[in-house]
Amino acid sequence: MHYEWSALYETLRGCTGCGLAQTRSHVVIGDGNHSAAIMLVGEGPGREEDLQGIPFVGNAGKLLDKMLAAIALDRSEVYICNIVKCRPPQNRVPADVEAMACLPYLRAQFALVRPKIIVCLGATAARYVYDESVRITRDRGVWKCKKGIWILPTYHPAALLRDEGKKRDAWEDFKKLKSKYLELQQKNMEKKE
Ligand code: URA
Repeated sequence: MHYEWSALYETLRGCTGCGLAQTRSHVVIGDGNHSAAIMLVGEGPGREEDLQGIPFVGNAGKLLDKMLAAIALDRSEVYICNIVKCRPPQNRVPADVEAMACLPYLRAQFALVRPKIIVCLGATAARYVYDESVRITRDRGVWKCKKGIWILPTYHPAALLRDEGKKRDAWEDFKKLKSKYLELQQKNMEKKE
């Protein structure tokens, strides 16, 4: 389905495509730059996100902002969204029917933003973005390229809050993200010359 941003917002705000619509306070669509080269995809809104209608504003979001800042990026340069746009009760993993109902909206966001890089934050994001058999501990940090878009799976920031031991690997992944971003920027400049 092809959407303009305004139609996507309107449709999502009225969406009753799955049961999560019944318990949400806000639909959490996305945040950041609508023409960003980097798009980060999480799992689904948590409590704070549901209350504010903005993705990654709770504790995991604060950590994500810090990690982006550490590679000299902020929200104005990336686009952040989730697999499901409404909060799963008790922050459970979205059910397959919920994720599948919401995927057309994520595809519409990909089509509108046209990112060069997609970062999958956690297994749920990676499974629905590119491969249902992903295991995040095994597959994180390894680039995939699909239809010219570079995809990087890494740990979800909430997983880093639960297990500090994962932070070192996540930091390596963010450094890879920065290098790829700079490499693609450089190539883009050379094409324009
Ligand atoms: N976790 C997610 O996956 N997404 C959010 O927006 C917040 C926490």
